Amino acid sequence: MGRTFLVTGGAGFIGSNYAHYLQQHHPDYRMVIYDKLTYAGNLDNLKDILADHRSAFIQADICDAESVRQAIRQYGVDTIVNFAAESHVDRSILDAEAFIKTGVYGTYVLLEAAREFELRYHQVSTDEVYGDVPLGSSLETDPLCPNSPYSASKASGDLMVRAYHVTYGLNTTITRGSNTFGPYQYPEKVLPVFITNAIDDEALPMYGDGQQVRDWLYVMDHCSGIDLVVHRGLTGEAYNIGGDNERRNLDITLLILEMLGKPSRLIHFVQDRPGHDRRYSVDSRKLIDLGWQRSQDFVADLQTTLRWYSNNEWWWRKIKSGAYREYYQRQYGQRAVLGTYP
Ligand code: NAD
Ligand code: TYD
Repeated sequence: MGRTFLVTGGAGFIGSNYAHYLQQHHPDYRMVIYDKLTYAGNLDNLKDILADHRSAFIQADICDAESVRQAIRQYGVDTIVNFAAESHVDRSILDAEAFIKTGVYGTYVLLEAAREFELRYHQVSTDEVYGDVPLGSSLETDPLCPNSPYSASKASGDLMVRAYHVTYGLNTTITRGSNTFGPYQYPEKVLPVFITNAIDDEALPMYGDGQQVRDWLYVMDHCSGIDLVVHRGLTGEAYNIGGDNERRNLDITLLILEMLGKPSRLIHFVQDRPGHDRRYSVDSRKLIDLGWQRSQDFVADLQTTLRWYSNNEWWWRKIKSGAYREYYQRQYGQRAVLGTYP
């Protein structure tokens, strides 16, 4: 008998890729996508999913306890996988309120529902909860030390999940994924901003000296890691999901420009992000010991991603108009340009 998953935040980047993963790997499951459709939620990400009779879509807020309960009752949900969050650091610096509402209060609402209906609960979290990691790699047992309003809201969610496990015995797990890339990523995160700007021969705004390090994880590897933990993770535990693929921002950008056949002078160094973490790095051994295998070919995954953005201009051009333009102006318009790449 298949299970019924409530995939909250399933119309966003990773959630919609996870919906595709579920459809492919668990054809006997039902999935109910529950999403508020904020600026980042997009039904274009789910076209083939919503055409499938085993899936349903509900437009609602995870902060709305009655809607959550109603969805669980109506579809007989047994598992919640929670992707819903405000997910962009720069936006959290401009205005943190929605981050606290969704990341903290919304997580609490889902946990309460999971408790009431005795559901399995999985929280999708981030490596950013560990804060800046100058040396070595974070272990799941390391203290949480978030530095941005975004990562603080995610760390708060993680702590609430932990508390519900310890206090009420709720069957929970957490995954902490690293910087993820792939199809359907909203063009506010660095890779889709840079890829789509480069396609249009527009400047790539590189924060500070571009020497910050991120550990790049292909979205399908992130999804397979989440899925493994949902099915085989030990209750109450957290698992890191890293790409084992640390790169400086400048290096990954030069690689992208080379692959797209665009000149490096498109890189503009601009005023840095306040509180900018220099490096994230997670140790994924605990997940590997659980049986996780990730793709070993970063360049091929990046190529697939570049090809996807090149072949799907209909998807991102629609987004990069209207309200997006206002955001872009607010985010980058006042930023001093410190120089271009030689
Ligand atoms: P995203 O911004 O693309 O998608 C978030 C989705 O959540 C959107 O569809 C949005 O409409 C929905 N949402 C937001 N607030 C909601 C609310 N109150 N109620 C219902 N739905 C709501 O984000 P993403 O990049 O796909 O990230 C998904 C999750 O993975 C987040 O929890 C994020 O913290 C985590 N994560 C992301 C990355 C990354 O590199 N993108 C890395 C590690 C972890
Ligand atoms: P981002 O994609 O926002 O992810 P996160 O901050 O959650 O790691 O940014 C990734 C890195 O790229 C980070 O070091 C900030 C940098 N960055 C830029 O240099 N320019 C940009 O326009 C953006 C959005 C990010």
